[in-house]
Formats: sequence, structure tokens, C-alpha cells
Amino acid sequence: MNEILKVVQLDKTFGGLKAVSGLSFSVAANEIVGLIGPNGAGKSTAFNLISGSIAPSGGTVTFHGRDITGQRPSRVVRHGLARTFQSASVYPRATVAENIYRGAISTLPGSVWTQALPSAGRRAGLARIAREVGEILELTGLGPYRDVPAGGLAYGHQKKLGVAIGIATRPSLLLLDEPAAGLNGEECAEFGRLLRVLREQRGLALLLVEHHMALVMELCQRIVVLVQGRKVAEGTPAAIRANPAVIEAYLGAPDYAHS
Ligand SMILES: Nc1ncnc2c1ncn2[C@@H]1O[C@H](COP(=O)(O)OP(=O)(O)OP(=O)(O)O)[C@@H](O)[C@H]1O
Ligand SMILES: [Mg+2]
Repeated sequence: MNEILKVVQLDKTFGGLKAVSGLSFSVAANEIVGLIGPNGAGKSTAFNLISGSIAPSGGTVTFHGRDITGQRPSRVVRHGLARTFQSASVYPRATVAENIYRGAISTLPGSVWTQALPSAGRRAGLARIAREVGEILELTGLGPYRDVPAGGLAYGHQKKLGVAIGIATRPSLLLLDEPAAGLNGEECAEFGRLLRVLREQRGLALLLVEHHMALVMELCQRIVVLVQGRKVAEGTPAAIRANPAVIEAYLGAPDYAHS
């Protein structure tokens, strides 16, 4: 397995609470891995630790063979690891296209905006970005809304914009925190199609936190189950669905039994 992300013995303690405890797992190139578990299991905390929003109390995060433990998000994203947030995180007054553009700009060398004189390299970089923004608008179906302020988008489109901004940073791995939360059945299915396209056409690997079990079971090659900060199971969707410990701790709960 060509592992691109490797998390080893990751710990995070908030005061006396072990939000993440001894968590180890990996994601291979072009793989979709699900990270599931009940509310408060530590899924978002694990994302924050991997993407650099918070520093771990212990353990390591390795990405493409490089130790990125505790690195700031702005550095982590340059290595090709991007994330979306559980709550939609867009610049509400900027247009859809501008929001995607801002994501893409982070792939250019840091000094690009501070250079007084335009250079050939800078122009080429900006031309590439303009092309990529167009491609991403088309890919995500947000083309018709490109000039709409992001704050005025319907909720489902805002969630898609979060993904669009993430892929604009040219990641090899995208972490998605509940991308389908609050979407209706049809929107959820459409989101599933988008995630599949990201894997199949753009070659991305995805780490997916999601409570919509039908979506998780359909999309993921592998699933990691967290309960109270600890990994209690890992396996294929079929194995996870049949795992008695997972059913008892999570899948058997009334909220998820039929989803
Ligand atoms: N910054 C923080 N300070 C203190 N406690 C925190 C902090 N962030 C998270 N926690 C606690 O850590 C635990 C794990 O929270 P986390 O948000 O990671 O869960 P989750 O699995 O993402 O849940 P959900 O499915 O509801 O999003 C919870 O008990 C939460 O209250
Ligand atoms: Mg969460």
C-alpha cells in the first residue's frame, strides 16, 4: 500500500479529557477512508491535529514521508494536505470565484503579491490559477454561481464551495469534515458523485468524517471507527457494518440505524 498519510499514536488532552488517544491509521494514495464515530468521539480533533490547527499532546503525523507533526496549517497545505471545516468556512462577501481563487493563490510562492513589478513567472502562475478556477467551477457545478457573493449561496452550494476551495490548493489528500451534514437525500447523492469524481478523475485521496452512513459505506474503501478518542475498529465497509462493537457503540444508535 502506498501510504501518503501516516498517523502514529496520536494523543490530544484537553484539561483532563482525552479527546484523541493513541490513534494510529494511514491513508493510501487515491484511497477514500472514512473516519466515523458518535458525537464527541474526537473526529474533528483528529482533523485539527493532522492539519495543524492544534498541536498534539503526543504522537506523530507523517505525510509523503515527511514529519509534519505540529506544523502550521499554512505549511501543511503547501505539502498537499487540505481540509474543509465542519461549519461552512467561506469569505461571505467575496464571490464564489474569488473564494476559489484565494485557495489557489496559496499555491504560489509567498512573495507573489508583494512583488512590485510583474514578472513572467508571476504572470504564468496567475494564468494557471485562472484556468484552474474555471476547471474547479465546472467540476463542482458552481459555474452558474461564479459571480454570486458566497454568503448568498444556498447551504448545499456553500458546502460544495468549501470543497472547491480545498481542491484549489492542489492537494493529494483532502480532509472533509461532515461535508454532507444538513443536505437532503438528493443533495447528498450529488455530493457523493462529486467526491467520487475527485478520486477517479483528479487522483485525490480523501479522509471523510460523515454521519450519513449510506454515503460512507458507498464511497469508502476503508473505515476507521473512533469511540471516546480511541480507535475501536478498522476495516472494509462490509466488515465495519457487521462489527458488533461498532454496532453497539455507534451504528445501532437510533439516529443512525436507518441512515
Ligand atoms: N478546544 C477544545 N477544548 C476543550 N475540549 C474540546 C475542544 N475541542 C474538542 N473538545 C472536546 O473533545 C471531544 C471530542 O470533540 P470532537 O469535536 O473532536 O468530536 P467529534 O467526533 O468531531 O464530534 P461531532 O460528531 O459531534 O462533530 C469532545 O468531548 C469535545 O467536547
Ligand atoms: Mg466534529
